[in-house]
Amino acid sequence: MEINKIAVVGAGLMGSGIVYISAWNGFDVHMIDINDSAVEAGMERIRSDVMTGINKNKISMSDAETLIGRITFGTDIAEGVKDVDLVIEAIFENMDVKKEVFAKADAAAPEHCILATNTSSLSIDELASATKRPDKFIGMHYFSPVAAMKLLELVLGEKTSAETIACAVKVGKKQGKTTVQAKNSPGFIVNRILMPVLREGIVLYEQGVATKVEIDTAMTIHGGMPAGPFALGDFVGLDIAYNAMSTLYRELGDCFKPPETLKNLVESGAIGTKAKKGFYDYSGAADEPEPAKGVDLEWLSVRIGIMAIREAMILVDTDIASKEDIDPAMVLGASFPKGPFAMADDIGLDKVRDELTKLNKELGDCYSVPKMLQ
Ligand SMILES: NC(=O)c1ccc[n+]([C@@H]2O[C@H](COP(=O)([O-])OP(=O)(O)OC[C@H]3O[C@@H](n4cnc5c(N)ncnc54)[C@H](O)[C@@H]3O)[C@@H](O)[C@H]2O)c1
Repeated sequence: MEINKIAVVGAGLMGSGIVYISAWNGFDVHMIDINDSAVEAGMERIRSDVMTGINKNKISMSDAETLIGRITFGTDIAEGVKDVDLVIEAIFENMDVKKEVFAKADAAAPEHCILATNTSSLSIDELASATKRPDKFIGMHYFSPVAAMKLLELVLGEKTSAETIACAVKVGKKQGKTTVQAKNSPGFIVNRILMPVLREGIVLYEQGVATKVEIDTAMTIHGGMPAGPFALGDFVGLDIAYNAMSTLYRELGDCFKPPETLKNLVESGAIGTKAKKGFYDYSGAADEPEPAKGVDLEWLSVRIGIMAIREAMILVDTDIASKEDIDPAMVLGASFPKGPFAMADDIGLDKVRDELTKLNKELGDCYSVPKMLQ
C-alpha cells in the first residue's frame, strides 16, 4: 500500500518534529492538537526549524514554501483523519487519553489506514485494543530531536500484520530514518539496553567502587561513549531516566529497580542540567570533591559495558529483537560507538561469559549469563 497522506495527532515536541520530517520528505501532513494555540505553537516550531534550515543554506526558499504548503492543521480528530493513509499519535504519555484518541481515529479513518503510536513506554497491544484494526496498529518510536536522530524503532504488536510492518518500514525510509524492529516489550530496544548501563554506573558509585567522575571518564575514554552515565543522565533529565527505569522495574522486576541516589535526586528536584543540578552541579558552584578510588578505568568500562551486552543478548534469547537490529539501534539511538554485539566481539565472548559467571555467583540473578552465551 502507498502512503501519501499522514495525520499527526499531538503538535508538541515530537509531533511537530514528525510533521516537519514528513513534509520535508514529500508526504502531505495534517497536524492535530487540542486547541488552536497548541496547533499554532506546533506550526511555530516547524517554521523556526525551516528558518534554521534556510539560514544554514540547507533548505532553499522554494523548498521551504513547498514544505510548509504540504502541511494543514486543525483540532478535530475525526475530520483530520478522514482522508489519510497513516495516523501517527504523539500526544502525552497517558494510556487512557491515548486510547480515547485511537478509538476516535479508528472510527473516522479510512479502512486501509494504519494507526501508529510514538509512545515510549506504553503497551502497543493495549493501545491497539482500543481499535477494531489491531492488524493495522504499530509503534513508530522516533527519537528526539526528530529531525536529527536517524533511528526509528518499529514496535510490533501481537496482531500487527506483515503488510503494516512493510508500510511503516517504507515510511521510515522515506523520512530518512533507519528502521529497526522489536516486539512489544518494555523499553523496546534502546531504553531497555541503556537503563542497565545507567543503573550499573549508579550502583557501582553507591557501593563505593568508583567516583562519578571515574565512571564517566571510563565510559568516555575507554568505552568510547559521548558521555558517561552521570553526565548523560543529567543531560537527558533524571526525571525522564527515573520514569523510564521505573516502568522497566514495574514490568520486568528488581534488576531495573531505580537506585536510591537517583530516586532521591528526582524527589529533591535535582533533575539534571535543566534544573542546574543533578548528579553534578551546573549552577557555577563547585561540586563536592570526591577523592578518586583509583580503580582501573579500562576494567570499569568493560564491567559496565557488559550490562548492555547482557541485556542485548536477553532480547535475542527472548525473541524480542535480532542482533542485526540491536547493534544499529544502539549506535543511532543511544550514540554507542558500536553495538553491544560488536562490543562483545571486541571484548571476547569468553571473557564476557567468565565475567558474568563471576558476578552471577557474587551478586545474584541480575548478572546471570544469557542463554546464547552458555
Ligand atoms: N520527548 C521525547 O524525547 C520523546 C521521545 C520519544 C517518544 N516520546 C513520546 O512522544 C509522545 C509525545 O511526547 P512530547 O515530548 O512530544 O510531548 P509534548 O508534551 O511536547 O506534546 C504533547 C502534545 O499533545 C497534545 N495533546 C494532548 N492530548 C491531546 C489530545 N487528546 N488530542 C490531541 N492532542 C493532544 C498536547 O496539547 C501537546 O501539544 C509521548 O508519548 C512520549 O512518550 C517522547
